[in-house]
Amino acid sequence: MIVATKQLFAHAYGKYAVGAYNINNLEQIMGLFKGCIDSQAPFIIQLSKGARSYANKQMLEAMIRTAEEIFPEAIFAVHLDHGDEQTCYECIESGFYSSVMIDASHSPFEENVAITKRVVDAAHAKGISVEAELGMLGGVEEHVQVDEKNACLTDPDEALEFVKQSGCDSLACAIGTSHGAYKFSGGQGIHFDRVKAIQDLLPGFPLVMHGSSSVPQDEVERINAAGGELKGAKGVDTAQYLPAAKLGVCKVNIDTDGRLVWTRVHREFFKEQPGNFDFRTPGKIFMAEYAKFIASRNELLGSAGEL
Ligand code: G3H
Ligand code: 13P
Ligand code: NA
Ligand code: ZN
Repeated sequence: MIVATKQLFAHAYGKYAVGAYNINNLEQIMGLFKGCIDSQAPFIIQLSKGARSYANKQMLEAMIRTAEEIFPEAIFAVHLDHGDEQTCYECIESGFYSSVMIDASHSPFEENVAITKRVVDAAHAKGISVEAELGMLGGVEEHVQVDEKNACLTDPDEALEFVKQSGCDSLACAIGTSHGAYKFSGGQGIHFDRVKAIQDLLPGFPLVMHGSSSVPQDEVERINAAGGELKGAKGVDTAQYLPAAKLGVCKVNIDTDGRLVWTRVHREFFKEQPGNFDFRTPGKIFMAEYAKFIASRNELLGSAGEL
């Protein structure tokens, strides 16, 4: 059943984090739902602009609504990931989304507030909640490449002011993570002191952690052994998920790790069976492996068993 994102956050706050998984195709949707049922976890299914264009937004909606029927026990929210203002309005109008993210984090503070506030007004009129972003994560974000020295952690005083002025319902903060498979070239993980400082000023307010993939090293090794070339790929320590959740991080975004599972399964399959061209065989393996991966993440996030 599709529920309000707010409802998931209220249940999770300070105890566990809800996994927010990006999906782009049928196999991911099937694996995601199965993994969340197997681990008895509520979850957020998130669609990026890229996903809405790749798989067609109508097709994605139809597949998710059908998955809702196939898996009647599933409790989940549907979220727009990294939206621009126009895409936010489109999703708000569609009536399908539980929440949208307006990402104006690359604009100056005042402009970020103004854009976010416009989206909040439109969303709240329809009972939809809004995630906004303040600060700059390293890595590639919305086609903007931010190098590590220009990435800046969210300032707690600014976060308080931003939430007050914009009226957003949750805030994506830059706390040391970055998007993609190449995080922390400087060896830095989550800045817990920063998360705590933000939570201290915004008690009870849901924080969101982007760039949360762990980039499992055995996955990277298997991909490379099967012909891949991922050099120096590195991610978040999964042991840091729960401590972050206890500090108010209610939503943990994971995309890259799912892509790695896909790449490993398909590279290994076609390396071992070079004569095979029935894509349903690796597709089936992927669905099972992705379900296993999702269940394992829900365990680490503490959302497993919370259905
Ligand atoms: O933060 C970006 C997400 O990982 C979505 O990636 O825009 O390539 O679909 P995408
Ligand atoms: P990863 O690239 O670490 O999976 O982050 C995904 C994300 O933040 C989506 O918004
Ligand atoms: Na951003
Ligand atoms: Zn993100």
